[in-house]
Amino acid sequence: MSSSRPIPTLLVALAALAASAAPAFAAGDAAAGRRTADTWCVGCHLIGNEQKAALVDAPTFPEINKRMTPEALRAYLFQPHPPMPQFRLTRQDIEDLIEFIQSMEKK
Ligand code: HEC
Repeated sequence: MSSSRPIPTLLVALAALAASAAPAFAAGDAAAGRRTADTWCVGCHLIGNEQKAALVDAPTFPEINKRMTPEALRAYLFQPHPPMPQFRLTRQDIEDLIEFIQSMEKK
């Protein structure tokens, strides 16, 4: 008897999700950026103050934060050049990474 409602409920849920997802897109989320960095960047870059060593001689994220503006980071991450791999990062991944890098101290 209670089976007549699932579709409207789903539509309401999707509308709410769309509404809440829209502003989050542009903002960037440092915690999500940290997770992306843990997956894609940590092999080569020092990404956190607690991390002592990385595999190759790449600039640390705190160094990058000191050196690069958000605009420069955005441009670079859309089109990284060797020796950086060609990532398949989404716009949101990039905004999150920028937010995460900017949350670090500059050294
Ligand atoms: C395979 C190793 C590798 C991985 C993985 C990697 N990087 Fe790099 N990255 C490097 C190296 C090496 C450099 C230094 C390049 C140079 O000096 O030209 C660099 C440089 C950079 C720079 C500075 C560019 C500049 O103009 O100074 C940024 C920003 C950067 N990486 C971000 C990232 C982010 C974000 C990720 C994860 C999504 C990532 N990298 C993953 C190796 C890597």
